[in-house]
Amino acid sequence: MSRFGGTRCSRPSIVIGTRSGVVRADDAPRMSEDELTDQIVTFYTAGMATSSATLAWALHLLARHPDIRRRLHEEVDTVVDDTASLEDLPALLLIGRIVTESLRPYPPVWILTRATSVGTALGALGSRPGPPSSTAPA
Ligand code: HEM
Repeated sequence: MSRFGGTRCSRPSIVIGTRSGVVRADDAPRMSEDELTDQIVTFYTAGMATSSATLAWALHLLARHPDIRRRLHEEVDTVVDDTASLEDLPALLLIGRIVTESLRPYPPVWILTRATSVGTALGALGSRPGPPSSTAPA
């Protein structure tokens, strides 16, 4: 028995939520089973390593900067009551900056791959259709 749908379901809870209408408007188009599976795989692969690496690097940097860590504790004590909620996020300005500053030297996605499908002019350079090429913006 699933928590959301009332029927047994092999999908994770986020998807059970979308199927049962918990997080889907009634008039929204439904996804096929294949589309649903593709979305889950994309979310897991794109979202898990990136978020965990970002958090790990932010904690690493905080461990090396006790002054910033102290200010972070002060911000949390000021903004958050007992339990942090989404509504607290806009007021957690320092935490936002800590995450951004962690992403700058330690970006989890440090290389991007693109394939040109149509010939394009990039300033003095041109880009012809061809196999994918990778760039590391940093
Ligand atoms: C700190 C965390 C994250 C970072 C640094 C990050 C970084 C990126 C970057 C740089 C791209 C563009 C890649 C490219 O164009 O080649 C991207 C795309 C994407 N990310 Fe993230 N991401 C993060 C978290 C997440 C999470 C949590 C999810 C989903 C739950 C997610 C889902 C996606 C998806 C679906 C795309 C492809 C978008 C598209 O091209 O249509 N990401 N991400």
